[in-house]
Amino acid sequence: MKIAVTGGAGFIGSNIVDELILLGHQVLIVDNLYTGKMDNINESAEFAMLDINSPKLVDVFVEFQPEIVIHHAAQVSVSKSLVDPLLDQELNIRGTLNLLQSCLSSKVRKIIYASSAAVYGTPKYLPINEDHSTIPTSFYGISKYVPESYIKIFSDLYGLDYTILRYANVYGPRQDHLGEGGVISIFMNNVLDNKILNIFGDGLQTRDFVFVKDVVSANIAALNNGSEKVVNIGTNNRVSLKDLVKIISKVTQKGVEYKSLDPKPGDIKDSCLDNIKAFEELRWLPEYSLERGLKLTFDFYESSKRNNELEEAR
Ligand SMILES: NC(=O)c1ccc[n+]([C@@H]2O[C@H](COP(=O)([O-])OP(=O)(O)OC[C@H]3O[C@@H](n4cnc5c(N)ncnc54)[C@H](O)[C@@H]3O)[C@@H](O)[C@H]2O)c1
Repeated sequence: MKIAVTGGAGFIGSNIVDELILLGHQVLIVDNLYTGKMDNINESAEFAMLDINSPKLVDVFVEFQPEIVIHHAAQVSVSKSLVDPLLDQELNIRGTLNLLQSCLSSKVRKIIYASSAAVYGTPKYLPINEDHSTIPTSFYGISKYVPESYIKIFSDLYGLDYTILRYANVYGPRQDHLGEGGVISIFMNNVLDNKILNIFGDGLQTRDFVFVKDVVSANIAALNNGSEKVVNIGTNNRVSLKDLVKIISKVTQKGVEYKSLDPKPGDIKDSCLDNIKAFEELRWLPEYSLERGLKLTFDFYESSKRNNELEEAR
């Protein structure tokens, strides 16, 4: 199948591209390298270094003729969205709209959209199922939610099929630990540098951490399933940050220390996504335990660090 992956040079998108190539699909990556990296780009994929807002996007799509578009390009930082809501809106909302128009012009059959648990806002109950109210508490949450509505209307009006995947906290190889990286990538790199981990708040806050390879398999399942469905992609489990530190300590076999800092304003206390619908609609279940995912993630960061040190020594 011909598949375009926006954000295919980023953390999740590049892991999806690698699997699509292994499965024998023909892949076009569209990425402007805003946070993505050349190193992440699979050599067997075509690469258009392009902003999803660009008027050229339609030409690229008309030429490649993707059957499916897997849409991961986005501004992904909650705090950046609070500092610069216009940029967040431009990349996530306007960018998706330009993408949808390009899909129509090039006769794309289906879009798979990477949404987020951020669309739910503060949970009213746990685990959160897809019927939970959507009252985002950040501009990022709004900018991930509005495209869902555009996608549904494009489907109603023009027959563009879709699956919307709402991810919990994704972690794994290639996640950026700099700046706004996920808590696991930041912790892992601090462990490697023998630094104390910073926990904001009392450490009793809980999160649903889903391994990137499980997110990849959800996208693969959505190629042929989940027509016109909105589906959570999480583990149905939650772990406190204190327990996460304990598991990291065990997995890395390093004595890990942490200190508690003031809670971050706006941080929610607990989060966990119900994944029953993902099983019903996609036949998808997460396969990686937190321990196994953390071990694979640590191995990745450890070997990246070793390679960087060798590079610098040359
Ligand atoms: N990481 C998570 O825990 C998580 C959770 C929920 C949802 N998501 C969603 O998954 C998707 C991928 O996130 P990620 O964690 O891999 O982030 P990432 O920053 O690694 O990947 C985003 C990619 O999009 C590209 N990009 C950004 N703006 C672009 C633009 N205007 N035009 C073209 N390319 C652009 C970046 O260069 C990057 O390669 C995002 O849509 C994000 O909202 C991520």
